[in-house]
Order: sequence, then structure tokens, then C-alpha cells
Amino acid sequence: MKVVVIGTGYVGLVTGACLAEVGTEVVCVDVDQQKISNLRNGILPIYEPGLEEVVTRNYQNGRLAFSTNITEALPGAEVAFIAVGTPPGEDGSADLQYVLQVAKEIGTHMTGHLVVVTKSTVPVGTAVKVNRAIKEAMLERGTLIDYDVASNPEFLKEGAAVADFMKPDRIVVGVNTERAQKVLDQLYYPFLLNGHPIIFMDIASAEMTKYAANAMLATKISFMNDIAGLCELVGADVNKVRKGIGSDPRIGHRFIYPGIGYGGSCFPKDVKALVRTGMEYGRSLRILEAVEAVNDDQKKVMFDKIDRHFEGDLRGKTFAIWGLSFKPNTDDMREAPSLVLIDALLQAGALVRVFDPVAMHEAKKILADKVAWCTDLYDAAAGADAIALVTEWNEFRLPDWQRIKARTVFDGRNIYDDVMLHKKGFTYYGIGTTQHTLTKIMTT
Ligand code: UDX
Repeated sequence: MKVVVIGTGYVGLVTGACLAEVGTEVVCVDVDQQKISNLRNGILPIYEPGLEEVVTRNYQNGRLAFSTNITEALPGAEVAFIAVGTPPGEDGSADLQYVLQVAKEIGTHMTGHLVVVTKSTVPVGTAVKVNRAIKEAMLERGTLIDYDVASNPEFLKEGAAVADFMKPDRIVVGVNTERAQKVLDQLYYPFLLNGHPIIFMDIASAEMTKYAANAMLATKISFMNDIAGLCELVGADVNKVRKGIGSDPRIGHRFIYPGIGYGGSCFPKDVKALVRTGMEYGRSLRILEAVEAVNDDQKKVMFDKIDRHFEGDLRGKTFAIWGLSFKPNTDDMREAPSLVLIDALLQAGALVRVFDPVAMHEAKKILADKVAWCTDLYDAAAGADAIALVTEWNEFRLPDWQRIKARTVFDGRNIYDDVMLHKKGFTYYGIGTTQHTLTKIMTT
């Protein structure tokens, strides 16, 4: 089967590469000439574990091709995935101009029956608009060719995108014809062999599934961040509370880790867009509004702790920031909580030394010369008054504390052992944990 994937961002590139990996003939199309020529030379626009190998292997064996020309790519294809960006507009709603532009081009250039699939996260009702854009383009060119539209939202996690695509929890597909269902069932057959289910449904439900999933996960995180704030006030330890509630299988252990707020391209954008959709239909999604507000506040929590510790006097103090990306194993800086913290520190007149294992390049585009760029975590800590752990990369988990001169550690992800650090003479601040107390130490 031949497939065209339009848009070579996270979702598009991973989709194209992984489909090629199981034997599908794939052409990845992007308007960005530079991106396409880089990809042909094995240079990827993003960091994602394992992706480079899959792209290179399949490019070399000829199953994966890259093109800037949608007209040349479409002939012979049975499926076209639309995987271009849907950035949040001014009002929080997803901006569909790129999706609809691609739909129009498909309508103008398609040559035979095609299943046009939206892979980008798009609001409920987008498939109807995609359908309209294709139809209009066809009427304009004066030829009518049979096609179907479908919705196939992507649930991959950044940092684990290839693994998630190859072994999906589930594949959700929204269709309104048997033909589209048959084609997509066949396309995904290789991924279903180990019992991973494909769930077919109507298009609106598929579109809604993606938003509901992300909104539920964001809710879990904001809920725990709220509980963490209360734990600090009442003298409880959220790490214990987390274990306590997670043991209930109805709640589960996953996605209840408090931190300094969720970031990335999906949760902030999708929560906003769903709230916006609610408003358009006259329904306010009150839980999600609160989820968003809690998250905005949470991104400021670490700065508040730092400010309180130094009694509001941060001018001329130096801070080491360990980790910049919104989460480990990615270089993605979108909506990264690190940016909120760094901005507040700089505003307060502090100096900032940063290190991240892979996101330095992306972060430099945003922070430029506002911070000192360091070679590793010890370099970042050199001369710092305090350490702020922002992203829980594995290589930050067990530092050689002997090499750290700073005496204060702000742990934004609760990855350090507070009692051990206290014994070593550090002052420790976590999220949702009260400062080490003597009683705690006496019981260890
Ligand atoms: C998410 C969804 O997991 C994925 O299914 C969806 O398709 C896209 O959005 P992603 O944005 O790549 O994926 O990252 P994820 O690992 O889900 O983390 C999102 C954010 O939540 C990160 O900032 C992370 O640090 C934070 N998080 C996650 C917490 O603060 N606590 C947790 O317990 C889990």
C-alpha cells in the first residue's frame, strides 16, 4: 500500500517512518524545502529516541521518500494523512488554516480514490470542514473523484514516540464508510498482531476521544499539584499520599506525579481548545478551566519557593537550572515550565546557569544570551547559590553531591531523597513535601 503523509513534524515524521518500517510505501511531504533536504541527508528536525535509525533505514531501503511536491506524491496513494500543525489561535481555539490548506491541495491534485485522514489533533467538526475543502477544490478543477475522510488521532508521547507508535495502547479511527474502514484496518494490521486493539467509531467521537484523553490526563496532574500544595500547608508528604492513592487500581499509579506544571505541545493546547469548543456550544467546562488555572499557578511554584528562601533578595544570586525541555527524552521547549522559572529569576535580577542533555539547541533559540550555557550539571552548579532541578532526565538522578558547592536544592520533580540530602548538609525543597523535619530524620 502507498501512503502520503503531509507535515513532517513530530506526528507526521513518526507516522511516516513507522508505517514504512512495517513495509508500507510512504512519501512524507513538507513545504519546508530545508527540512526535506535535511531529512534526505539523515538530519532530523527533532530529537526522538530511535527515530533517526528508523528514518535512515527506511529511506535507504527506498520505502520512505521525502518530497516538497504534493502533486508528485499523491498518484497511486490510497491514504493521505494530514499531520500539519494546529497551533492555538489568539482565543485558544486550534488554528485550522494549515489543515484546510492541505485539504484543498489534496482536492486539487488527487488522481484516484483516496482516504484522507486527519492525524493532527483537531476539534470536533474538523473532518466536516476538511471534506468541504476537498469538495470545493474538486469542483473548482471540474473533476469529481471518489474519496473518504477519516479521523485517526495520534496518542504518542514525545520521548517515546516510536515505541508508542509501534506498540500502541490502542488505535482510534473515526470513519463514515465501510471502504475507509477496510483500507485503514489493512494499513494498521501489522501493529495489531500483539493484541493492540483498533477501535473504529464515528468521526466526531474519534475527534473527541483525543481531547478527552488529554484533558483527563491533564486533570490528573493538576489535581495532584493542587493536593501537593495542600500537603505542604498541613505538613503531609505528597509522595506518600501518591503511593497511597495510586494503590487503588481505580486511580492507578500513573500520571499522578506532582511537579512544576505540565508543558509540551499537547496538554496546554488541547485543554485550551476543548474549553474553547465548550464555549462555542454554550457550555463552560468548569473542571478544565480549573485544570488550566492550577497549571498556570504551578509553573510559578518553584520561583515562589526560591524567592521565599532568599527572602525576596535574588539580585546578583546565581541559580543552576538542571533540565530545560518540558519533560525528559525530548528537545521540545514548547510551554516548558523552565521558561517561566528562568524568566522570573531574570526579572528578579538573578543570574542563571543552565544545562540540558539535548534541549540546549532549541532553548538557545528562545533564551539566547540571557543565560549562561553550561557543559554539564556540575558546570551549571559552579558558583551557584542554589540548584533547581526542572526536568527529571535520568542523568540528573544521582549526582555526586560532593562536587556541588551550593547548599540549597529545589527539586521540581521530587526525584531526590530529602533525608539523604539533609544529612549531607543541604536544604531541600520538593513539591508537596514539607521541609525535612527532625522527627523524619529520627525515624530513618
Ligand atoms: C501527551 C500525552 O501523553 C499523549 O498521549 C498525547 O497524545 C500528547 O500529549 P506528551 O505531551 O508528549 O504527551 O507528554 P507526557 O509524557 O504526557 O507529559 C506531559 C506533561 O505532563 C509533561 O510536562 C510532564 O512533565 C507532565 N507530567 C506528566 C506531570 O507533571 N506529572 C505526571 O504524573 C505526568
